[in-house]
Amino acid sequence: MDKNIKNLSNLLILCTFSLFLTACVGGQTGRNNSGQYKNGMVVSAHPEASKVGLDILKKGGNAIDAAVAVQFALAVVYPDAGNIGGGGFLVYRSAKGELASLDFREKAPGKATRDMYLDAAGNAITEKSIFGHLAAGVPGSVDGMVKAHAKFGKLSWAEVVQPALNLAQNGFSITESQAREFAGMQKSIKKYNPGKTYFIKDKWTKGELWAQKDLAKTLQLIRDKGRDGFYSGEVADLIVAEMQKGGGLITKEDLKNYQAQWRDPLVGNYKDYKIITMPPPSSGGIALLQLLNSVEGYPLKRYGFNSDSTIQLLVEAERRVYADRATHLGDPDFYKVPQKYLINPSYSTQRMGNFNWNRATLSSDIKAGEAPIESEETTHFSIVDRQGNAVAVTTTLNGGYGSMVFVNGAGFLLNNEMDDFSVKPGTPNMFGLLGGEANAIEPGKRMLSSMTPTILEKNGDLFMVVGTPGGSTIITSVFQTILNTIEFDMSMQRAVNAKRFHHQWLPDEVLIENGGFDSLVRVKLEGKGYKFRERKAIGRVDAILKTKWGYYEGGADPRGDDTKLGW
Ligand code: DON
Repeated sequence: MDKNIKNLSNLLILCTFSLFLTACVGGQTGRNNSGQYKNGMVVSAHPEASKVGLDILKKGGNAIDAAVAVQFALAVVYPDAGNIGGGGFLVYRSAKGELASLDFREKAPGKATRDMYLDAAGNAITEKSIFGHLAAGVPGSVDGMVKAHAKFGKLSWAEVVQPALNLAQNGFSITESQAREFAGMQKSIKKYNPGKTYFIKDKWTKGELWAQKDLAKTLQLIRDKGRDGFYSGEVADLIVAEMQKGGGLITKEDLKNYQAQWRDPLVGNYKDYKIITMPPPSSGGIALLQLLNSVEGYPLKRYGFNSDSTIQLLVEAERRVYADRATHLGDPDFYKVPQKYLINPSYSTQRMGNFNWNRATLSSDIKAGEAPIESEETTHFSIVDRQGNAVAVTTTLNGGYGSMVFVNGAGFLLNNEMDDFSVKPGTPNMFGLLGGEANAIEPGKRMLSSMTPTILEKNGDLFMVVGTPGGSTIITSVFQTILNTIEFDMSMQRAVNAKRFHHQWLPDEVLIENGGFDSLVRVKLEGKGYKFRERKAIGRVDAILKTKWGYYEGGADPRGDDTKLGW
């Protein structure tokens, strides 16, 4: 008996000591035993970029400081999509609930014309909008970062640009998947960059240090001169020289005139949650709200995660929403988007009216709703700082490595965002998306996007920060990740890991991730007329959830090198 008591007291001492240790470590890092963090978090596509963001938070920077630093760091360490030669969207919610959204999407050059990608017979030459100089829109990322920092940043501009400059100057260690990918890109990069760039190299090895001196020079100019370091002077000269060399359209005037734009974020509700998301020229925000409105009245919890009923319902909602996207959405500065009408819940209820549980609706039977006129590479990161300010940024060159064109001497890739316009009604873009008048090419117009950086609130408090790359699949991946947490009670990481599927009206098929579905569910749905196509990965969601205990739980997508870091 005595011995037992002694053992028990030893055990108690041990427990107290280990609790004390955990509390000490926890106190220092804000980490709890479930790997959640109290003081803030960064989730991005590359470990080096997440580290840059975390360092900025730890030295007292806020979420916007960290976002700017991560955007520039990704331009160095993740050249597939991180960029200064592209554009993107930012959605912000301050700890006090102030909302903002910034559109730094690329624009069509002033000399762009509606039929610029058609041959003499009027046929689309799609390669021209995807590869090479003519595919590039006027980049928006640098002006976007300048504007975001000027409005909300706390640290100095130089402090937030410097970490990226260091990475470009001193090099960073490339990951295994990057070594593989970069090696695979050599042929295309060579084709569009006949001179030398430091991206042309026969051998790439995991862990090697890769420095980018020209990019370092460009970042130094941006650090010292802000927007003028990019949109005028040496870098602008190099961009225009590159354009002239390869038959591109971007002029000095286009660069000088480029302005990122603050827009009113789109706000809607799903059950007890407030959804704060990106308005046009993103199609993502409107489509996300429409999707949520379409399924809100159904007992998803009861149907269960990826059950046949859940998949069927979501696919039918997606089919109808993407039909609307093709007709009604475009740059609001050029086209009157019937936004209020489309996001009204009763509109979605009416659109779902002809959905039949017994068989698949045919996409050929679905057209865009009648709306009255109203008065594969991108990257996403999510950040929350110590005060609770949250930011969601999705940024892109469009395709992996954009147009493949390096600005000679300036060390960065230009986007191929022009392909996001509808080059001709009825001709799908590289993501199979269709469009018409609303998204036709016009000089100075922004091409329609699917990027959907989104923040959710619950009971007036921050709930989630979420977004993903994936072209047309962005919207459905964000939609499903939100449902995974709200309806299917998954943790943030599980919600991100979960297998995804996608339908976009046309082509009339359900894309699924390899091995994603129970075969019985698939057979059942095939019996109702659904066609499936398997694909490797859909999206790379990077998200943060605020738990009811006030801790941040990250979801870093295992489909890539994505990394969550907190403190
Ligand atoms: O803005 C858009 O919708 C596209 N440019 C996004 C491209 C993309 O996500 C490619 N990534 N896998």
